[in-house]
Parts: sequence; structure tokens; C-alpha cells
Amino acid sequence: MFFALSIVSVLVATTVAASGAANDTFNLKPFKIDLSSKIPRLTELVRNTRLPEKALYPEAGQGKGIQLDFLRELQTEWVESFDWDAQQTELNRFKQYTAVVEGQTVHFVHEKSEDPDAIPIILLHGWPGSFYEFAPVIKPLTQSSTSAARENVSYNVVVPSLPGFVFSSAPPENWTTDDTARIYNTLMTEVLGYSTYAVHGTDWGCVVAYSLYNFFNTTVRAAQFVFIPFFSVSPQELADNNITLSAVQNVTEQRYTKWSTVGNAYFLEQENKPNDIGLALYDSPVGQLAWMGAKFKLWSDPRAGTPPSVLNNTAILISVSLYYLTDSFLSSGWIYEQNPNGFRTVYTKANTDAPMLFSQYKYNILFWAQEYVAKVGNLVSYKVHDFGGHFPGLDNPPELIEDIREMGTYFSA
Ligand SMILES: *[C@@H]1O[C@H](CO)[C@@H](O)[C@H](O)[C@H]1NC(C)=O
Ligand SMILES: *[C@@H]1O[C@H](CO)[C@@H](O)[C@H](O)[C@H]1NC(C)=O
Ligand SMILES: *[C@@H]1O[C@H](CO)[C@@H](O)[C@H](O)[C@H]1NC(C)=O
Ligand SMILES: *[C@@H]1O[C@H](CO)[C@@H](O)[C@H](O)[C@H]1NC(C)=O
Ligand SMILES: *[C@@H]1O[C@H](CO)[C@@H](O)[C@H](O)[C@H]1NC(C)=O
Ligand SMILES: *[C@@H]1O[C@H](CO)[C@@H](O)[C@H](O)[C@H]1NC(C)=O
Ligand SMILES: *[C@@H]1O[C@H](CO)[C@@H](O)[C@H](O)[C@H]1NC(C)=O
Repeated sequence: MFFALSIVSVLVATTVAASGAANDTFNLKPFKIDLSSKIPRLTELVRNTRLPEKALYPEAGQGKGIQLDFLRELQTEWVESFDWDAQQTELNRFKQYTAVVEGQTVHFVHEKSEDPDAIPIILLHGWPGSFYEFAPVIKPLTQSSTSAARENVSYNVVVPSLPGFVFSSAPPENWTTDDTARIYNTLMTEVLGYSTYAVHGTDWGCVVAYSLYNFFNTTVRAAQFVFIPFFSVSPQELADNNITLSAVQNVTEQRYTKWSTVGNAYFLEQENKPNDIGLALYDSPVGQLAWMGAKFKLWSDPRAGTPPSVLNNTAILISVSLYYLTDSFLSSGWIYEQNPNGFRTVYTKANTDAPMLFSQYKYNILFWAQEYVAKVGNLVSYKVHDFGGHFPGLDNPPELIEDIREMGTYFSA
């Protein structure tokens, strides 16, 4: 008993020392979202934005870009029924902080489990996502799973905002996703005091997650991906390698073919001329809604907004409001320019023995066969989900929670 007690006091002392150092060195501070004063101007701009009375070519599908009726519906909701203050109150239920690492202010959610054995995890979002993309999964992940297969898996959840996104400061022009990975490793280990942890990433967040997985192999001890930083291969290349696809996998591969031929103009625009689109839409909430709302719509499950998906119009308006209200549409677009090789064509294996898990969501926009995912890491689980798309935290939270809990069964500090 005495022995157990002294271990506890040593642990407490260590934790306090770590947070004391963190306060001094990293200026760690609690954070609350407070953007309400910017709402009157947002509402005025949205209300006064003129859209065509009727669609120029009513038959043109969403493959040609956002559809007028959908944009108008969102515009009306933004003005008439969307309640920013209520959403802000919800978001502020998450414990949030800022810390300064290598001169960058990093905003992050940090929700701890009551379980002393909880695994630390960092969840990494992309564009046009934000920390909000993980809102439905954060609290459940802090709780112990009740399913037999995942007994006692729970997490201390950290969700940072990427540099240049919402409340994290815009980085220097030469900043890359490897730099982001390095400061996030410092966040997890030095600011928060976790000596090992797990990672999950999607979209640009998967580029950072993979960099952590590859370069920080003593601290990152498991990884779960729903997207990997390697471009998908063509149906022909799959066939040449004798890889046959299930019907569900084929749907995703077809979506990749479409994305790579008639769906990636935004990617090239932001990679080549981030200031053009960034400044053109800087003070245009409806413009940002058209540019980003189109992606939420086109990249998710056609059933988005119906259970288990919570990716409805409100979720899109929260996402776009976060970008507009924090002036981060311009700075977030630069991530494409700053990382021309963020997504690679040559598949290489990460320098780690840490287990890697992968889940393919049917309506995602890129597709990876198991044989290809296995080329890039120590693949221990490959799953295909027939509901959900590019934003599984919103359009299939229960399965994403399961995916991440499964990783817990492979994690060993
Ligand atoms: C660190 O800062 C937080 C909030 O600013 C404060 O609550 C806490 O007591 C500080 N910890 C130490 C060890 O100074
Ligand atoms: C879960 O925790 C309980 C209580 O600490 C323990 O009895 C049980 O063996 C644990 N289960 C697993 C699979 O570790
Ligand atoms: C990046 O730019 C900053 C100035 O903004 C400079 O201090 C730093 O040395 C540059 N880093 C590299 C790797 O070029
Ligand atoms: C694919 O299968 C064919 C026929 O069995 C075989 O000749 C070919 O070598 C295989 N290709 C690869 C890349 O395994
Ligand atoms: C995949 O889908 C395409 C388009 O619907 C179809 O032409 C093709 O035969 C399908 N391939 C497989 C392997 O199911
Ligand atoms: C979207 O779903 C949330 C619950 O996740 C609900 O509160 C909200 O009213 C829904 N919004 C719309 C426009 O249906
Ligand atoms: C970590 O990476 C280094 C450098 O590539 C390598 O030498 C080492 O074996 C790796 N360690 C693990 C545990 O994979």
C-alpha cells in the first residue's frame, strides 16, 4: 500500500513539473472561442450576396461545381436559422488550449479520459476540415469501450488545428508538413508530457500523421489512417498487378478516377496560385461556402446528413464559418503550395515497426488497395466501410470510433 502510494506521488510530481515547464517554455494557456462580435458583419455579407435567380444550366450536375439551389439553401439557412452562438457554446464544451512551439501558436483540444491507462492520441484534420471534423468522436474516445473485443480501450484525445487553420497561427512561407509533424511531436511529448502516443490522420492531416509515423518512431507507437499521402493508382495498374476489387472498392476507385481527371482543379489552383482564390474570397462568406461547401457535398456519402452521418447543412455552415470568422481561408489554402510533394506517386515504407491500421470509406475520393497500403507501413488491419466518405468523423462517426479503438488493441507504449 505504502509502495503504491509513493508511486502515485512520484507520478503526480512529474506531471506537475511537466506542466510547470510547459507553462513557462510553451506559454500553455486555456482557450475559448469568442467570435460572436464578428457575426453581424458575416450575416450582413451573406444576406446581401446576390446569386442568379435561376441556374444557368439547370441540368448541370454537381460534377460541374456547386449547384445553385444547394448554395441558396445554405445561404438562407446561414442568415435565418444558423445560430453561431449556440454552435460556439457547443465547441467550447471541449477543453481547448494554445501553446507556442517554435514560434507557432498551436490551438488544440485536449480531452482526457478518466482511465489512468488511456492511450494518448493526436487526431489530424485536413482541408476544408478543422478540429470540428472530430467533434462527434472526441468524447466517446475518452470513454472505455464496452465491446468485448476492445475492452478497456480509451484515449486522452488531442486535436490540434493545422498551422494557418482557424486558431493556429499562419506559419512562415517555407513551412512544410514535416515542420508541422515536428512541432506536434513536441506538443505531445514536451508540452503535454506523453512519452508515447498514437496518431490518426485524414486529408492533409494524414500527410502530417504519416510524417510523425515515419520520423518519430520511438514516440509514435501506432497509427490509424483513412487516407495516406500517396496518390492512388489507375484501374489499369491494379489490373496489371492482378488486384481485383469488391463492388464497394470499385466504387471508390471510380471516384478516384473522376477526382483525378475532373475533380482536382481546386488542388492545382491552391498549389499554383493560392493568393488568387485566397484573396478573391477573403471577405466573401458565400464565396467560401461555394468553394468549400462543394467539397463537403461531393466528397461525402450521398446519404450524408442521415444517421449515422451528422454531416448536414449545419455541419457545413459551422465548418465554413470557422474559416471565414478566423480569416483563415487564405492561409489554409497555402498548405497545397507549401507541400508540392505532400502526396507522392512513389510508394515507400515508413521507418518504423509500429502497427498501422487503415480504413477505406466507400465514398472517399481516393482509393488504396490493401496491397498498396501494405507498401507504406507495418499494416496490421485493412478495412472497407460501405457508409461514409472523406470526412468519416462527421459522416460515419461510429465506424471511425471503432477503427480508432481497434488501434488501441495494437498499441504498446
Ligand atoms: C499552468 O497554467 C495553468 C493555466 O494557465 C494553471 O492552471 C496551472 O496551475 C499552471 N501549472 C503550473 C505548474 O504552474
Ligand atoms: C479491463 O479492466 C478490468 C478492470 O481493471 C480488468 O479486470 C480486465 O482484465 C481488463 N480487460 C482487458 C482485456 O484488459
Ligand atoms: C524559413 O524562413 C524563416 C523566415 O521566415 C527562416 O528563419 C528560416 O531559416 C527558413 N527555413 C529554411 C529551412 O529555409
Ligand atoms: C498476374 O497473373 C498472370 C496470370 O496468372 C501472371 O502471368 C502475371 O505474372 C501476374 N502479374 C503479377 C504482377 O503478379
Ligand atoms: C467498376 O465500375 C465500372 C463503372 O461502373 C465498371 O465499368 C467496371 O466493370 C467495374 N469493375 C469491377 C471490377 O467491378
Ligand atoms: C444537423 O444535425 C444536428 C445534429 O447532429 C442537428 O442539431 C441540426 O439541427 C441538423 N441541421 C439541419 C439543418 O438539419
Ligand atoms: C526508427 O528509425 C530509424 C531510422 O530510420 C531506424 O534506424 C530504427 O530502426 C527505427 N526504429 C524502429 C523502432 O522502427
